[in-house]
Parts: sequence; C-alpha cells; structure tokens
Amino acid sequence: MRTPFIVGNWKMNLTMKQVDDFLDTIKGQLPDPNNVECAIAASSIYLDKLTEYCKNDVHLKAAAQNCFYKNSGAYTGEVSPMAIADMGVSYVMLGHSERRKYFHESNQMINKKVKAVLSNGMVPIICCDETMAKRKTYDEMNWVVNPVIEALKGVSAEDAKKIVIGYEPSWAIGTGKSASGKEIEEACFLIRETIQDLYGKEVSDLVRIVYGGSVNAKNVKEIMSQPDVDGVLPGTSSLKPEDFIKITN
Ligand code: G3P
Repeated sequence: MRTPFIVGNWKMNLTMKQVDDFLDTIKGQLPDPNNVECAIAASSIYLDKLTEYCKNDVHLKAAAQNCFYKNSGAYTGEVSPMAIADMGVSYVMLGHSERRKYFHESNQMINKKVKAVLSNGMVPIICCDETMAKRKTYDEMNWVVNPVIEALKGVSAEDAKKIVIGYEPSWAIGTGKSASGKEIEEACFLIRETIQDLYGKEVSDLVRIVYGGSVNAKNVKEIMSQPDVDGVLPGTSSLKPEDFIKITN
C-alpha cells in the first residue's frame, strides 16, 4: 500500500561535472516508479539541473535538503520554498541532524518549515535524530517521538497523509555501521504509533517512514524487510551512481 521510497542525500558534496556524470549514468537504470520511488536531495545550487533532468525522467524526483519558511523577503542567504517549488522540486528534507547540530534548528523552526513546504505543494521529509544516550534512557518522549510531534503541530490530517518521516540516528550516520533491523523497526514502529495517536490509523497507514544511517547495497534488503520501514535515505552510498542504482534496485 505504501510505495517504497529511496532518497539519496548528497549533502554538501559533488561538483557540477560530477552531478552531470551521475545523472548520465543513472539514466534508464532506476526501477519502475510504480514499484519504487527514487529521489535525490541535492544542495540548492544543483536543484535547477536536477529538476531539469527529472522533467525528462519519471524515475527520479528532485528533493531539496532544506529551505526557509518564508516565501520571499529580506532573508539573505536563504532558499525560498516558493522558488524551489516553482523549479519543480517535489520533496524537501527538514530537520536533518546536521541542520540541528550545526545550524541550531529547533523543533519550532522545523514546524514552520514543514507548513511552508506543504503550502507550496511539496512534501516534507521530516528527519528525527536519535543519540545513543537518548536511546539508552528509553524515554520515549525524548527519544524519537518528540521531534515528530513538534514538527507536525498545526498540520492537518489531509497534509499529514503525504509526509515522509526520516528516522536517522546520529550514532549510525556516516559511521559505516547501520543500526540493526531490529533497532530500526523498534523506532519506526514507535513513530508510526505516534502518527496514529495524532491522526488515527488511516493516516498512519499512509505515512512513509524511511531510515538513514550507513545504508548501503548490502544492508538495504534487511532494512527494507522491516514492516514499518518504507524506504531508506543513503548519504555516502548515494554519491556514486553505481551504488545508488544498486540500492534502488
Ligand atoms: O540523510 C542521510 C544520512 O544522514 C545518512 O548518511 O552517509 O550514513 O549514509 P550516511
């Protein structure tokens, strides 16, 4: 019922030439979008190129890694959600642990961005972090659930149906060692229960929950076999087109 979703997060990597080569290489290599939906989250300087590519290839969708919550105005250095929606961006990652850590993004800020992305017709991929210290306390409210509740404040059930939640424990990101299938399912199940508490079962059955943290072509199968996991968010393994093709297939 939920189409699997694979989102490669390039983070602040690649040159224009490498982006060109990546897009050339994946042409015709990604799965049928009815079976697996694929997206690349690129930094804003590459979104124009990416959206142009996506106009001619239904196998890939363009995602942004962030945007601001205002559509226009005196906000030097920020990226407008209205402008990227106009370019053809489909998804926007919000609240990635690197945004929270290096740019001090709060749950309140992420909530404003979620609403701005939705009101511009795009879909937010709301990321929730989890530190090992928090997991060990087993305090559910502070574990993974609280950022989800905060991010969805004031979001209607109709809008909530479309969203994607990214479970990304920072203790697994960029380490080469993914969380285990059991650890991932535990958190994703809890996230789905939280959505059900907020909006009911009809909505929680539709929301896609994806996992990020050292996903690669070898571990993707086990991760995807977990009942509450609908997709993955590879970072490092999305930089080489060959790896991305393997993961998506
Ligand atoms: O958003 C994806 C990410 O944070 C995971 O990165 O390099 O561990 O696959 P990586």
